Amino acid sequence: MKVLVIGSGGREHAIVDALSRSAQVDKIYCAPGNAGIGLQAENVPLKDTDVEGLKAFALDKRIDLTVVGPEASLAEGVVDAFRAAGLRIFGHTKAATRIESSKEFAKELMIKYGIPTAGYKSFDAFDAALEYVSGRPFPAVIKYDGLAAGKGVVIAQDLEEARAALSDMLLDATFGKGRVVIEDYLSGPEFSFLCFVEGSNVYPMPLSQDHKRAFDGDKGPNTGGMGAYTGLPFITADDRQFAFTEIMCKAARAMVSEGCPLSGVLYGGLMKTADGIKVIEFNARFGDPETEVVLPLLESDIFDIFDAVASGRPAPAPVWKDAVTLGVVLASKGYPGKYQKGAVISGLDAVQGRIYHMGTAFRDGSLVTNGGRVLMVVGSGSDVADARERVYRELGKVKCDNLYFRNDIAHCALDK
Ligand code: AMP
Ligand code: GLY
Repeated sequence: MKVLVIGSGGREHAIVDALSRSAQVDKIYCAPGNAGIGLQAENVPLKDTDVEGLKAFALDKRIDLTVVGPEASLAEGVVDAFRAAGLRIFGHTKAATRIESSKEFAKELMIKYGIPTAGYKSFDAFDAALEYVSGRPFPAVIKYDGLAAGKGVVIAQDLEEARAALSDMLLDATFGKGRVVIEDYLSGPEFSFLCFVEGSNVYPMPLSQDHKRAFDGDKGPNTGGMGAYTGLPFITADDRQFAFTEIMCKAARAMVSEGCPLSGVLYGGLMKTADGIKVIEFNARFGDPETEVVLPLLESDIFDIFDAVASGRPAPAPVWKDAVTLGVVLASKGYPGKYQKGAVISGLDAVQGRIYHMGTAFRDGSLVTNGGRVLMVVGSGSDVADARERVYRELGKVKCDNLYFRNDIAHCALDK
């Protein structure tokens, strides 16, 4: 089988790595890929949103199956275009991707089908939004209604912060179309529940937790994610069962009822509040960096799962290893603000465990940094403490003078 993976980050590297363990896959292409992915697949210089280019490539190379990583490709309609051309593809249609790309669509769906989430109201007029916020307790959660590359959520602590956020989202033309959702503020530990979904068939993956802030102790600015792990001790078997049946399965059935069935990954960004588990957001794709810790635990052949979902038939139930994984992201100093690219990286050969490349390139024969998040080192163990110790031991072997990482990945699981 010839497979094309669309995307260029650590998530796509983990997908390529899982596909490379399949007995059925002979050839993997990745568009556009990165330096590390290029060691396991053939990189194709096409942008992830170049739907026409990707389709022409898949037709020309007679690709058997395409797997989509990023939401931008899904929102661009890559799945619709591939299917119209008779190509098999794993990922949601543009209509189904609204579960991520439109906060209001997702909120209406959850209310209509009784899926637990924070109360909300949506606005497109600045004055009405500001008036609403002023009459409510702070913090206020203000979300831009559309794909905003992770910058679309502001937790405003007071009226001034709320005013600034609403002004950016509703009055500033550069931000986009100008619609916001204002939500009740919830608190509790967050976790990620990724499931393969084909219509109303839902196949859960191990739970994981991301670390969104840049610095230790969950301080500093929000990032794309600085590390993740599986084996969350604070989520009980009952919690997980509730999240599976009352959230993930319900959402899948709701999308069928709405006439836009899912055919890829549904990612529940969930919170365990004092009042039960609630949805913070849905994403229509694999999480990053969650995928890098989840897929190494898959024992089944991932091609069978992708192929079944892409073909609209039930998949074989995935089998998972009885171990936990933990991964730490090495990011360029300065990220998520300004940072430099091109710093030479060495020492990777000595590292035991998996290394997923997030933003690397080869320049003049050397591996160099080429993005904000650069590498993720992933290890496994019998429990979280064991996995954490192994990964941090290996991290010291990576040599590069422009990288930093968090020292406390999995602190929610380990700190007393
Ligand atoms: P989202 O893009 O919707 O996942 O939001 C990004 C982050 O903002 C989440 O991971 C939460 O930490 C926080 N957040 C979003 N919605 C809420 C809420 N209703 N209450 C508290 N925190 C929230
Ligand atoms: N880990 C956060 C995300 O993938 O959206």
